[in-house]
Amino acid sequence: MNKLVVRHSNPLKGKVRVSGSKNSILPIIAATLLTDQKNTIEDVPYLKDVDVMCSLVQSIGAEIERSQNGQLTIKTVCIKDIAAPYQLVSKMRASFLVMGPLLARSGKARISLPGGCAIGARPVDLHLKGFTALGAEINQLGGYVEATAKKLKGAQIYLDFPSVGATENLLMAACLAEGGTIIENASVEPEVVDLANFLISLGADIKGAGTDTIKVNGVKELQGCNYTIIPDRIEAGTFMVAAALTKGDVTIDNVIPDHLKPITAKLKECGVEVSEELSSIRVKNTNNIKAVDIKTLPYPGFPTDMQAQVTSLMSLSEGTSVIIETIFENRFMHVCELNRMGANIKIDGRTAVIEGKNLLNGARVKATDLRAGAALVLAGLVAEGTTEVLNAEHISRGYDRLDEKLRTLGAEINSEEEENDSDSE
Ligand code: UD1
Repeated sequence: MNKLVVRHSNPLKGKVRVSGSKNSILPIIAATLLTDQKNTIEDVPYLKDVDVMCSLVQSIGAEIERSQNGQLTIKTVCIKDIAAPYQLVSKMRASFLVMGPLLARSGKARISLPGGCAIGARPVDLHLKGFTALGAEINQLGGYVEATAKKLKGAQIYLDFPSVGATENLLMAACLAEGGTIIENASVEPEVVDLANFLISLGADIKGAGTDTIKVNGVKELQGCNYTIIPDRIEAGTFMVAAALTKGDVTIDNVIPDHLKPITAKLKECGVEVSEELSSIRVKNTNNIKAVDIKTLPYPGFPTDMQAQVTSLMSLSEGTSVIIETIFENRFMHVCELNRMGANIKIDGRTAVIEGKNLLNGARVKATDLRAGAALVLAGLVAEGTTEVLNAEHISRGYDRLDEKLRTLGAEINSEEEENDSDSE
């Protein structure tokens, strides 16, 4: 078990480079299964989730090479196994994204149902309805979904909700289906667009990614390509909040400022100075944070993956703020821990009401998921004394060396081994 020990730090100052996007690289690794040609992907972040996805595609038949400079080479000459076992899917839900590519390339897939997780029930019904529309036969048995289709056939699919994962899974499957597919009410998140651009580089015929109607004309086969993934907007947003919270002055490099608009707008409303360059953003704050209301929504709304971090920010604001979480039903696990640090937050269903305080106190707190963990680290930077964030493995699932990067900005943070299982506390 790992813990992050965070001490009250001076205002963060300096420059930090954001890594490639976690939510882009995971579906893109799955998408490499669509071709027997070699793919080279650049700026791949060092994350536990990337390791899990690599292990999964290796067990399916991929050969992988990874270099020190963030380059990943993947080639899957043939599909040796069509299964994604429970051990992997339960560790990382994005494993379910191999279903579309497997079904499209080999006509069958056997994937464990992911089950619920710390932030909600997270069903996969929209994925399965879409595969059925594409002509797959779906059977659920013993916690697994078995899907078969001699040849997928293009179809018109309307998603009841613009699910990121369902849009990606169906988009990948449609690339090799016979005929045309239209995905309506599709997700417009930047990572869906990145996946579509990757697929287009492989030779897929896709139009409309980034709008709510994506049109795909199936092709017979796909090639390999060289591709650089987009920067991680949630990592960037986390550093933006860190700068605002510590009254620092931080330039965040390797960003696409447009992708950060919802976060930039909220920070400006809080009284924080944010200035954009072509591929960097500077966040400077000398003021007390003003309380603002926030509602998480699909892109271009405020991202649910930034909700926990802004909850920490609002805990130290002037006034009362209301945060409404509309994407996941149980994404306030960080709140109990923030309250243990002295925050004043009340939860009613999907709404958090936060009375801003002047001060938080360091404590031993537990990261229940990735973004909850990041929120506690941010709170620890400004809390009096020392904060120990237990279960820090969650953080390295999705942040590329967060502690190291924060240290370069002047934060006092160290990773340490935790001897006892924190659950027994
Ligand atoms: C992705 C991101 C995650 C982000 C989320 C929302 C990856 C690897 N993960 O997760 O970081 O928080 O988007 O922006 O990209 N739903 C259904 N049925 C389905 C699919 C989804 O009801 O078949 C519901 C979910 O339970 C959830 C909501 O739709 O309440 C959003 O889920 P979705 O957009 O699919 O998120 P993920 O792809 O799992």
